[in-house]
Amino acid sequence: MAALLTNMRNTVIAGFVLALVVFAIFIFVGGYALSAIVVGEQFWAFILRWLHVMFGILWIGLLYYFNLVQMPMMPKIPDEQKPAVSKFIAPEALWYFRWAAMGTMAAGVILAALSGYLLDALTLGATQNFVAPSTTLIGIGMWLGLIMWFNVWFVIWPNQQKALNIDNRFPDLTKEQKAAAGRTAMLFSRTNFMLSIPMLFCMTGGGINANLG
Ligand code: HEM
Repeated sequence: MAALLTNMRNTVIAGFVLALVVFAIFIFVGGYALSAIVVGEQFWAFILRWLHVMFGILWIGLLYYFNLVQMPMMPKIPDEQKPAVSKFIAPEALWYFRWAAMGTMAAGVILAALSGYLLDALTLGATQNFVAPSTTLIGIGMWLGLIMWFNVWFVIWPNQQKALNIDNRFPDLTKEQKAAAGRTAMLFSRTNFMLSIPMLFCMTGGGINANLG
């Protein structure tokens, strides 16, 4: 067990194997035909929803870590110890952060397309004359998520590369230029923190139609 848990890759594999075990028990106890389940579109929507939420947790978990832990602690860390964060921890965290954002967005868009409401949601229900509040709600959530994804890839990441000189791509920037890039990254990260709250409110409002009478 210790050998499994001291190796990160094996731990991840074990997690997926456990999920498969749960799935096998579900099939066995329910007496379902596996062949019938896997050809259904709902099954793939379920798998995508699961991956979507896992990627989403990784992304938003790191966003909350940056905003609640790393940023407030940086000024309190002695200067000679700061490179431990800026040269090692932050670049690694940013790798998981931006690829988790990509995975969340991709799984979410494919999920909406597979479920047949991508256009209806992106037009906030206009294509259906706004008859389904859950479509409008998930549409607002998707737009907020897409704005957040854009901020990660096209504002936060490029500015963090400059601020931290990641992979030595910006060796000639002045201290002021680095500070300005760091401030832009911080402000957009804060924006994403703020947007994550209404975004998740909208994301999880799928069942609302049934309760509106
Ligand atoms: C980046 C853009 C995003 C898009 C395009 C998107 C898309 C979607 C869609 C289409 C659904 C509905 C799934 C269904 O039909 O059952 C959904 C649900 C959900 N999403 Fe997102 N999403 C995004 C970002 C996020 C993020 C960042 C999180 C953070 C954890 C998240 C968490 C969730 C959760 C928890 C649900 C509810 C699942 C359920 O109620 O079964 N999403 N998302």
